[in-house]
Amino acid sequence: MARPSISKYYRLADYLVFGLTVFLAFCLLFESHLKLPALVGWLGHWHPVLLHFPIVLLLIAVFLSFTKGGVPRPLLSVAVLFTLVTAVTGFLLGLESGDKGQLLTRHQWLGSGLALLAVAWYWLDGLGLGRRPYTRALQVVLAVAVGLAGHYGGMVTHGEEFLALPGPRETKKIPENPLIYGDIVARVLDNSCVSCHNPNKRKGELVMTSYNDLMMGGKSKGTVLPGDAGKSELIVRLHLPATDEDHMPPESKKPLSDSEIQILERWIALGASDTLRLDRLPSTEPLVALVNDMRTPDPVQQWADLPFVADSTLENLGSDYLTIKRVAGNSNALAINMYMPPEYDPQLILDLKRVSPNIVELDLSGLPIGEREMGLVSLCSNLDRLEIDQTPVTDSQLAQLKGLSKLRLLKVYETGIGDGSLPVLQDLASLKKLYLWRTGVTQNGLAGLKAKRPALLVDNGVDPKLQVFFEPKDSTSTKE
Ligand code: HEC
Repeated sequence: MARPSISKYYRLADYLVFGLTVFLAFCLLFESHLKLPALVGWLGHWHPVLLHFPIVLLLIAVFLSFTKGGVPRPLLSVAVLFTLVTAVTGFLLGLESGDKGQLLTRHQWLGSGLALLAVAWYWLDGLGLGRRPYTRALQVVLAVAVGLAGHYGGMVTHGEEFLALPGPRETKKIPENPLIYGDIVARVLDNSCVSCHNPNKRKGELVMTSYNDLMMGGKSKGTVLPGDAGKSELIVRLHLPATDEDHMPPESKKPLSDSEIQILERWIALGASDTLRLDRLPSTEPLVALVNDMRTPDPVQQWADLPFVADSTLENLGSDYLTIKRVAGNSNALAINMYMPPEYDPQLILDLKRVSPNIVELDLSGLPIGEREMGLVSLCSNLDRLEIDQTPVTDSQLAQLKGLSKLRLLKVYETGIGDGSLPVLQDLASLKKLYLWRTGVTQNGLAGLKAKRPALLVDNGVDPKLQVFFEPKDSTSTKE
């Protein structure tokens, strides 16, 4: 009794497979002549949902076909039907995106190819040839094709780097004298826009991966109008209300910050050149401050990975003479300041060892610190800012700072160091600002340091002729 009804279903599956295969082949062959009604295009939107079924079903089917029992015919039918429907909807989705890039083309041919392979398997299996060597080979090729099609599909939707290992692109440092387009504007576009505006996904016919493509513009033709930011489509869209359909980036993505919008705006207002450099701009130009702000990393983000420190730890370590603060809210980055107590006890400082990786700012100025305290300082591997001015620190003690690769600011004026410390200072890779006066460092030595590290700002105090008018202590408050 049951037999005829089952075979009826098999026959229905055969018809469906046949029909869809013919339709898919027709689409592929006559792609350039196809103009589809909107409803059919809408079907394409199901592709991202559907595609998970054939991946799973086909892989299970291939796996089962290698077991003793073989693949059950109903499973194979369902897998093949889903594969065909996914390929057809994928094709419709592709039609919508207009100009296909290389990735999408590759994904499409892999996807359709594997659908046709699956049909061939279905057909061979129906003829009872499911275990022949050529069917076996076909099954293996099919499994590999599923993996490849998925890989290219992932790159189409998520951008080419989606499956690549995280690279240093976004954290690339801004050079001293950056190109406004190449180092600044392109960075903003790369981070927020290029995922949809690249040679593979030319949304609005606009590609932003190169200067020339960007200037060529998109379908509006007024994408970037040099000198007229207000009328440039790119800026207009950034200023639309976030709920507006034309707002960029579209609602689902993180919007640009105000300063990022201003950067794009000023760059276009200044003529949208690709050769303009920062040092060409007058200091009153807002772009100068915007670029400099971009340089200073966001402290919260910069120190997001520091080990956790509990409030109780901070309470235990602190005292009336040693204040410990978190640099922001509940950040684990610490700023520590020690004042001279009536009776100096180095232990207060040495106890900081427990939190040494968390210390990013340390002020020990005016304290009688020596070898042991500097040993503690050398453990503060994330130190950003160190003040050891007005201390008896010597060259050999300062040499302990050698490993502080993140140190950006160092105050060592009125200390016991001399030219012997210059090699150490010179090797502090991140050092940006150095306060150095009234030490044993000679004018020659200093000139040598400046020559080797031209970008390093050395503050060597007040003009020597005026120095007599200042109390040494006052110089602290007039600096910084
Ligand atoms: C999630 C994908 C996506 C992202 C990200 C995205 N866009 Fe778009 N963009 C689109 C789509 C889709 C269109 C075409 C829609 C339309 O014409 O209204 C478009 C069109 C445009 C256009 C119109 C092109 C022209 O000249 O006619 C501009 C300008 C634009 N985007 C700028 C941007 C900028 C700037 C960013 C980054 C801040 C960005 N887009 C990020 C999807 C995106």
